[in-house]
Amino acid sequence: MKTDARSVVTQLLPHRTPIRHTADAFAPANIALCKYWGKRNEALKLPLTGSLSISLGDLGTRMRIQLAEKDHLIINDEEQSTESKAFWRLFDFFNLFREPDTFFKVESINTIPMSAGLASSASAFACAVNGLNDLYGWGLGNRERSILSRLGSGSASRSICDGFVEWNCGTREDGMDSYAAPLPVVWPEFRIGILTLSSDKKAVGSSEGMQRTVETSTLYKSWPTQVKKDLPMIRQAIEDHDFTTLGTRAEQNALSMHATMISAWPPILYWQPESIETLKQVHVLRKDGVEVFATMDAGPNVKLLFLDQDTGDIRNVFPELQLVEPFATVTD
Ligand code: PMV
Repeated sequence: MKTDARSVVTQLLPHRTPIRHTADAFAPANIALCKYWGKRNEALKLPLTGSLSISLGDLGTRMRIQLAEKDHLIINDEEQSTESKAFWRLFDFFNLFREPDTFFKVESINTIPMSAGLASSASAFACAVNGLNDLYGWGLGNRERSILSRLGSGSASRSICDGFVEWNCGTREDGMDSYAAPLPVVWPEFRIGILTLSSDKKAVGSSEGMQRTVETSTLYKSWPTQVKKDLPMIRQAIEDHDFTTLGTRAEQNALSMHATMISAWPPILYWQPESIETLKQVHVLRKDGVEVFATMDAGPNVKLLFLDQDTGDIRNVFPELQLVEPFATVTD
């Protein structure tokens, strides 16, 4: 019999009775350095390949979950209609965990633009799991919280912890071995620069985009081979603090993912003219000796990867850059 999301949840939860009325939670957004693109199981959001990301410190989602008479969702102080996608996606997810007579008021603050390829769904679902874990007093560890977050959004499996995080693809049909874990590496000089070129909602959501790519892109056949090569190299580069290798592989990995999307049919082209302009500026900076690399997700925005020493040079070219110091809050 095929495993569904509800039976995964049932295996992991000790009970379904809240122990408190209110819970406050946080989860960071994350940016993949080796991307996840393509599922082997839609219902359980099991990936076709492993992936590796960096969490964005205190940029992410804060959530207060309260027991209520009926479901309410407030995002960034705006009440969401019961018909909105955000509303049904979140409460459908909550249905996996709660008894039918339990309702929630959820107040969520995103510190990153929603649905612009900046992984806000990742931090939202991981944050929801952290909040429920507290409200119900389940005492779940990283592995369980990662598996449960994945059921909301694949990349959410990586938003359960700080720093560099690897999501193991796993092979089991029920996905119990498909979860993320942190790499024990602190790299205080590592920087991310977010260039929000457009906050428009994306035209093709990541789920639909992945499915279309897997089904129709001829280039997708080479994607698992690309990841097999990139993932260990990126992991090793992180362990060695070898920024040149890390940046090179991460940029090539991101552009290869976009190549698979562009060759899907109908094509999925998230890039805007500003995205291409930015990539070219990055290449000019590199030619001038500044070690900066680019990565892009399911949207037109570009994220830069660099080390602290180059912040000044990069800011001169991109004054609007939102600087992220992923290890700023980590004390070792
Ligand atoms: O988890 P989803 O469905 O939002 O997909 C995320 C896909 C990418 O952001 C493009 C890549 C990744 O690994 O985060």
